[in-house]
Amino acid sequence: MNKFYIETWGCQMNEEDSEKLSGMLKKLDYTKTENREDADLIIFNTCCVRENAELKVYGNLGLLRKLKNKKPELIITVCGCMMQENDMAKAIRKRFPFVDIIMGTHNIQMFPEYLKKVKEDRKAILEIWDKEESIVEGLPIDRESTMKAFVTIMYGCNNFCTYCIVPYVRGRERSRKPEDIENEIKKLVAEGYKEVTLLGQNVNSYGKGLEEEINFAGLLRRVNEIPGLERIRFMTSHPKDLTDEVIKAVAECDKVCEHIHLPVQSGSTKILKDMNRHYDREYYSSLVKKIKEQIKGVAITTDIIVGFPGETEEDFLETLSLIEEVRYDSAFTFLYSIREGTPAANLKDQIPEDVKHDRFNRLVETVNRICAEINKDYEGKTVEVLVEGKSRTDENKLMGRTRTGKLVNFEGSAENVGKLVNVKITKAQSFSLVGEEI
Ligand code: SAH
Ligand code: SF4
Ligand code: F3S
Repeated sequence: MNKFYIETWGCQMNEEDSEKLSGMLKKLDYTKTENREDADLIIFNTCCVRENAELKVYGNLGLLRKLKNKKPELIITVCGCMMQENDMAKAIRKRFPFVDIIMGTHNIQMFPEYLKKVKEDRKAILEIWDKEESIVEGLPIDRESTMKAFVTIMYGCNNFCTYCIVPYVRGRERSRKPEDIENEIKKLVAEGYKEVTLLGQNVNSYGKGLEEEINFAGLLRRVNEIPGLERIRFMTSHPKDLTDEVIKAVAECDKVCEHIHLPVQSGSTKILKDMNRHYDREYYSSLVKKIKEQIKGVAITTDIIVGFPGETEEDFLETLSLIEEVRYDSAFTFLYSIREGTPAANLKDQIPEDVKHDRFNRLVETVNRICAEINKDYEGKTVEVLVEGKSRTDENKLMGRTRTGKLVNFEGSAENVGKLVNVKITKAQSFSLVGEEI
C-alpha cells in the first residue's frame, strides 16, 4: 500500500487543508506515515505569513534532494499559501526541479487528478489558480483528533492590514452557507466529536454575501442548538467587527466557551493606524472592558507584533502598558517581518533587528509573568476539562483543556478520554495547570 507523509506549517487554515488532503489520499488507499524515509508521497503545506516560515520550507526541500535521488519514484508535492505568492511557485520549480506537483490554496480539490497524471506520465505539474473559485463542499476530511474539530466558516480576508500577506494568498472573504456548516457539525457529533472551533481570518464578518440573512452572532446561536455538541470555540475575532450582539451570544450560549482570541497587534494608536487596523487603543480597551463585564470568567488571548516600521520606544511602552491593563491569558508574540508586496514593506522607518529583539524580550517577559499570575489563581479551583488523552509530559497522567483554553495535566481515569470531567487544580505552572479528577 502507498504511504504518504505530510508536513504542515502555518495556521489552522493550513491544518484543515492538510486534513482534507489526507482525506482525499485515504480514499485513494494511501496510509499516513510519520516517517519521510518510508513515504511514497511527501507533501509540504507551506505558510508565508513571516519570513522564517519560508526559510523552513527551503531548508526542508533541500533535505529531500537526497531522498529523491535514492528513490526516484517518490512523489513530492508543495502547496499552501507560499505558492500563491508572486513568482514563488516558479522560483521553487527552478531551485528544486525534483518537485513533482506544485499547487496553490485555491485548487487543493484537484489534487487526486494531479497525482494520477504525475503517476501516469511522470511529468511535473505546476498549477496555481489566481482567483478563488466558489467554495468546494463535501471534500473528504481525515481529522487529527477524534473529539475536537476545526470547522471553517469563512475563507479569505478583506482587511489588508498593512503588514499582512494573507489577503493576497488566501483571496477575498467567502462565507460558507449556514446549513453546510450545521450539517458538517451534526455529522461530527454523530461520529462522537464533542468540540468544534469555528475558523476564519475574521469570523465576526461572517455572513456577508450569503443569500440567507445571518451574521456571526446568529451562527453561534444556531450551532449552539445542535444536540450532543458540548463546546464551541471560534477564532479569529478582529476587534473592529466584534459586536455587542456577538458578546451577548457568547455570554448566553451555554456551549460557547469563555475564551476570546482578540489580536491587538499594538497598544499604540499611531501604530494601529499605520497597520490599517481600523481601531484605536481606547476603542480596544473599552471593548475588553465590555467583554470582561458581560462574559463571566472569560479568558482573553491575543497576537502582538513588535518592531513595526516607525515604532518608537514610546509606542512600544504603550503596548506593554496595554498588556498590563488587559492581562492576557496568553499571547502569540511576533517580530515584524517584511513581506514583499504589502504596504508596510515600503515604509521607510524599518526598525533595526537588535531593537526589535530587545523589545521582543521585554514583551515576552511581561506576557509570561501575567500568564503565570493568572494561572496561579486557578489553584484550588475545580474546572471542567475535555479529556483528550495521555499527557505528553507524564505517561501516568491525562491531559485536556478547560473551557478557557488552559492545558491541564491531571490524574484521572483513562476511561474518560473523550468526555468532560471535573478536575481540581492542585498546582499552577507558567503555561499549564496540574490537577486531579474529582
Ligand atoms: N486573521 C488573524 C490572523 C492572521 S496571521 C488576525 O487578523 O488576527 C496571525 C498573526 O500573525 C497576526 O495576528 C499577526 O500578529 C502576525 N503577523 C501577520 N503578518 C506578520 C508580519 N508581516 N510580521 C510579523 N507578524 C505578522
Ligand atoms: Fe492579516 Fe489583518 Fe486579515 Fe488578519 S485581519 S489575516 S492580520 S489582513
Ligand atoms: Fe500562514 Fe496561510 Fe495561515 S500564510 S498563517 S498558513 S493563512
